[in-house]
Amino acid sequence: MSNQPLYAHKKVYTFPTRNVEVYFGAENFSIHHWFGDASVYIITDEHIHALYPELTRFHPAYIITPGERSKKQSTIDAILEAMLMAQLGKDVIVLGVGGGVVSDIAGFVSSIFKRGTRLVLLPTSVLGMVDAALGGKNGIDAGVFKNMIGTMYQPEKIIYDFTFLKTLPHAEWVNGFAEIIKHGCIKDKELFEFLEQHTLENFQHNMLLAATLIERNVDLKMNIVTRDEFDQHDRQLLNFGHTIGHALENLHELPHGAAISIGMVAACVLSERLADLHFEEAARLVRLLTQYHLPVDIETDHDKLFEGICMDKKRMGEHMQFVLMNTIGSAFAKPVPMKYIQEHLKILI
Ligand SMILES: NC(=O)c1ccc[n+]([C@@H]2O[C@H](COP(=O)([O-])OP(=O)(O)OC[C@H]3O[C@@H](n4cnc5c(N)ncnc54)[C@H](O)[C@@H]3O)[C@@H](O)[C@H]2O)c1
Repeated sequence: MSNQPLYAHKKVYTFPTRNVEVYFGAENFSIHHWFGDASVYIITDEHIHALYPELTRFHPAYIITPGERSKKQSTIDAILEAMLMAQLGKDVIVLGVGGGVVSDIAGFVSSIFKRGTRLVLLPTSVLGMVDAALGGKNGIDAGVFKNMIGTMYQPEKIIYDFTFLKTLPHAEWVNGFAEIIKHGCIKDKELFEFLEQHTLENFQHNMLLAATLIERNVDLKMNIVTRDEFDQHDRQLLNFGHTIGHALENLHELPHGAAISIGMVAACVLSERLADLHFEEAARLVRLLTQYHLPVDIETDHDKLFEGICMDKKRMGEHMQFVLMNTIGSAFAKPVPMKYIQEHLKILI
């Protein structure tokens, strides 16, 4: 290959299992430019395919139906069969181009096809860029059991072409900012304050500002997950808002970001009781979520919600490993009795 791939800069994050190269600002992404004549199999969704048809012009691809409902075993089976029919070898690069649904599916497929192929991710949604493409977790849903089936498998490269964000719908920007706000809550008070000084529209209209924010969030998540690849310590903090959030997401079929937003508010109410969180700090979070167009409350069926919470992966018998916040920028995980959660659910949400 004569040309070097175009990108602004590269960082390498070191996991116990492998080094992951992350390329920021790779504008005008072209498969040939990045991979030359290597065997590449693209996994993307119908929205991305319709907007960027040139991606699949010269390479075999599997185009999934967009959305969470594609995260199921039958999709994985269909992709594996298509890859076998295409007689792809173990040397194939599985390239996932899309949001978190695509990166979860591409990661899972790549980890099991012929016991593991090369994996490259090109996240195209804010949520994919700041969260789903990072850390090596992948997974599919089994009915209402979200992300219960999957593997841990690191990509060799993650490529950021921020120009994809120009076509991202407004609702998906909102969705992604829930995880960015979460990062501020658990680890980065300055990030939280930076977000307070801006609006979503500032980032949507200024790609450099958006790129800077996204890279800061990549650093934050990668610093956590490289030190704790297998979820023993700080990685648990990334679940802030997710225990109640996931249950709400299933029960009300809410977008992930909306569910996590309400889940974070509930976790704050719990933190006022079981940690040192001052109510004024909780009120700041509610204001920030509202500023970024995220919901902070919902009418729900508390019995059904509790049933959903009981199915959470972080449940350990009679306790739930709950992430609480002491102050903005400082969180910790604490086992909370399931009975306590059940009795206080109407106060939390
Ligand atoms: N594995 C992990 O660590 C991890 C972490 C967080 C979330 N996730 C998973 O990620 C998923 C949510 O990710 P998501 O919000 O990106 O959902 P998604 O992949 O469904 O993408 C959201 C929508 O945006 C569209 N889209 C994406 N990029 C676009 C672009 N540039 N232009 C136009 N449209 C675009 C998609 O087609 C889709 O309709 C969930 O399944 C969640 O479980 C995984």
